Amino acid sequence: MKGSQVAVTALILAAGEGTRMKSSLPKVAHRILGVPIVAHVVRAVRAAGVERVVVVTGHGAEAVELLLEGSGVACARQDAQNGTGHAVMCAEPVLGGFDGSLLVLAGDCPLLTSETLAGLIETRERTGAAAVVLTADLAEPAGYGRIIRDASGSLAAIVEDKDLAPEQRPITEVNTSTYCFDAASLFGHLRHLENSNAQGEYYLTDMVSIFREAGLEVVPMKSPDATETLGINTRVQLAEAATILQRRVNERHMLAGVTMTDPSLVWIGPDVVVGRDTVVEPMTFLFGDTRVGSGCTLGPDTRITDSRIDAGCVIDSSVVVDSSLAAGVSVGPRAYLRPGTVMDEGSKAGTSVEIKNSRVGARSKVPHLSYIGDTEIGTDANIGAGTITCNYDGRRKHRTKIGSGAFIGSDTMLIAPVEVGEGAVTGAGSAIAHDVPAGALAVERTDQRTIEGWAAREREDDQGPAARERSTR
Ligand code: UD1
Ligand code: CA
Repeated sequence: MKGSQVAVTALILAAGEGTRMKSSLPKVAHRILGVPIVAHVVRAVRAAGVERVVVVTGHGAEAVELLLEGSGVACARQDAQNGTGHAVMCAEPVLGGFDGSLLVLAGDCPLLTSETLAGLIETRERTGAAAVVLTADLAEPAGYGRIIRDASGSLAAIVEDKDLAPEQRPITEVNTSTYCFDAASLFGHLRHLENSNAQGEYYLTDMVSIFREAGLEVVPMKSPDATETLGINTRVQLAEAATILQRRVNERHMLAGVTMTDPSLVWIGPDVVVGRDTVVEPMTFLFGDTRVGSGCTLGPDTRITDSRIDAGCVIDSSVVVDSSLAAGVSVGPRAYLRPGTVMDEGSKAGTSVEIKNSRVGARSKVPHLSYIGDTEIGTDANIGAGTITCNYDGRRKHRTKIGSGAFIGSDTMLIAPVEVGEGAVTGAGSAIAHDVPAGALAVERTDQRTIEGWAAREREDDQGPAARERSTR
């Protein structure tokens, strides 16, 4: 933890089912901006400087653990979901006697910012309190645990919505399920939790009154922005959270020099990098591990995932997945660049072009209606309209090689494996099944038959041979 004296570990509670999502997917596995809800929480915690993260999984544990694979978090299982206090008990063995500040958060709060979490940690260290509780003022507090303060304004207890006395209902300050505990105090007193409440669960919130009785200090910290603490319980809240995160991400990019003609119609994942003076047009989606350079124009109507786009590229109405584009590449409209596509500097994938697992050399152009698969194209080649690499024989994939400066005539079928040499030319409409040496012309088509005057004669003579043929059909 940056500037921190005490070791900090985060514990994310994510074992609940989330019944109100009405889903076969565990709640925290639902995605916002392409990232699972629980992964948003992990990101915020990491950005606050916390390295060690433990996630409690239970409902749909395998699915959630799979989503977290490779993110360096440890998981603890809670097989039966007997409450948030019980979830912490289940994590104790994984935490292995950890002594320091323990940040505890709900896995369904993707809007929490690293600034707020860092503030929570800092407050606990400064005050030495057994716990700091993040609270929020909500206009509609129903459903949340309420913050009960004593006459002096100190935090006396947290009472769950279902356990509220009638006079406590109007309280608008709620528990956000975000805490920073002194780990030794927490695990020293956790066994005092009881489940004699409306839901028959072990509530982590009861630690507040347990600490008070033990003479330990609990400090409330009110969130300056209540929207940050929004928990996802329904798909309506999922959509609300998505809009808030969308706005946050887009504002960050715009303030860093990215133009968006209508930011409400642009969706960018939290890890995407976009360079200055790039213009992002409406209905454009940039997701996953995507890096875009400066001065590009993306969209409208474009989806780019896990790709590298260098400076000055123009991508119009297209889909780009797991591909790499060097500077000045032009894509679309309606191109589909599938995984493994590498476009070198100044190359082009034009209208209704599909490219997969191929390299298009510098300044080479595939301008119209082509399929290029498992192919290596050199530099300065031109691939005529309608060219198709026949890379699949029904069982195996084969490679095509097109040399630098080659000119592939329109509607050429390149039957792989096949190689067209440097500077070679193929005639329009050819099916090329044999290698073409450098500098050669390969034409494969039947000779054209031309019958002079045929059309005029046919029009004059309704009894002509062509008309007779038609009537016997
Ligand atoms: C909890 C708090 C409530 C607070 C609210 C804020 C308790 C008892 N109540 O209520 O004071 O206002 O969050 O959103 O803590 N979980 C487990 N194991 C369990 C139960 C829950 O891991 O056995 C996880 C869930 O996956 C979820 C989080 O804990 O991420 C909160 O659980 P949830 O059931 O949503 O608690 P609330 O009823 O909303
Ligand atoms: Ca909740």
